[in-house]
Amino acid sequence: RIDKVIARRVWDSRGNPTVEVEVQTTGGRVGRAIAPAGASRGTREAIDMRDGGKALGGLDVGQAVANVAERIAPALSGLDATDQKAADDAILALDPSALKDRLGGNATVAASLAVAHAGAAAKGEPLWQHLADLSGATPSIPLPEIQIFGGGAHAGRRVDIQDFMVMVPGASTFGEALEITSEVYRAAGSLMERKGRLAGVADEGGWWPVFDHNEEALETLVKAIELAGETPGDRVVISLDIAASEFGKDGRYRLALEDRELGRDEMIRLLGDWLDAYPIASIEDPLAEDDPDGMRAFTAAYGDRVQIIGDDYLVTNSALVRDAATDRACNAVLIKVNQVGTLSEALDCLTTASDRGFGTIVSARSGETEDVSISHMAVGFGARQLKVGSFTRSERMAKWNECLRIGDAIGQDRFVAGAPLADTAWA
Ligand code: PGA
Ligand code: ZN
Repeated sequence: RIDKVIARRVWDSRGNPTVEVEVQTTGGRVGRAIAPAGASRGTREAIDMRDGGKALGGLDVGQAVANVAERIAPALSGLDATDQKAADDAILALDPSALKDRLGGNATVAASLAVAHAGAAAKGEPLWQHLADLSGATPSIPLPEIQIFGGGAHAGRRVDIQDFMVMVPGASTFGEALEITSEVYRAAGSLMERKGRLAGVADEGGWWPVFDHNEEALETLVKAIELAGETPGDRVVISLDIAASEFGKDGRYRLALEDRELGRDEMIRLLGDWLDAYPIASIEDPLAEDDPDGMRAFTAAYGDRVQIIGDDYLVTNSALVRDAATDRACNAVLIKVNQVGTLSEALDCLTTASDRGFGTIVSARSGETEDVSISHMAVGFGARQLKVGSFTRSERMAKWNECLRIGDAIGQDRFVAGAPLADTAWA
């Protein structure tokens, strides 16, 4: 049973305050989790409750921490830590709002995940096993989606596109996917250095994007894959997060780097040209969250050959996933627990998505910590992919390394290689 729930302020990878929750059981077990924080946030996602004011850029979390101590803790006290649904229902009863604006999504997500950790500890199981018990899924090791260049809101908008990533569906194990990605990352760094454009890394650890136009990033990525000894489009493919809500509104898309504004159809054509020219297997938020017509048109045109992920467009919301499946606005969903607020709601969204043939990608936020819950989630929920940012900085590497450990426990042959290319497209 849950005995004590403690909240404290800790710090994330951007040096910003965030919420940590610790759940103690009567049996002396402890579960702990930390809320992540996004920078390119969807308008329909759960809010991050921040104190405002002058101190710490207005980002302090005193109220969210108090909400855990004063409201969530009494509601969870005495509940069975292994009963995640009951715990999340207790949190939801306190704040049934879609945006979790009474408690703060940062308070609810840390509390919900801490209960899961405590539940696993109470059962004497690793978290991934406990989550597999909850989801009913066969545990599997996800295909990693790893950033090589950061951009958009994660790199001072140096380029418009947010994530230039690679996936290695041709790898035979998770470990091999990491090894090949590491070579690509290293190669991309030397290419930047040769051009005199090495300028450190962006928020998620990808190389800082010193490029004259968005295509130059894609061309450099292709060259990096080649320099790493791979044939682009063979074992290694490109994945993009356009994060179009950051520069698109009312069907107009403003590409600041190229100083031009595109209409919806031109934007779709531009992305289509990229799909023709580069080995891109997956594309996230190609159009803005307020542009369902654009998402539907894009999916009608390209959904049979590429994975189209809704992130800001779906905000880990089951109802939005149901609608998107019905009107074919994309064919995969990004799962971020803090977009919706509790683990049970995130699992419900993931199940809703996979029941409809959608690809499922568990994802970190740009503001992260040493918390590795999402690695366990991806495995225990049987998600196809895991997106964590780049291949540097320990708040990222911790998640990749945790998957290696879990792989040793469940068998490296449980790696879901190739899945995003094989099954997610609309046939
Ligand atoms: P965020 O970005 O965590 O800054 O919102 C991640 C993403 O868009 O996938
Ligand atoms: Zn995104």
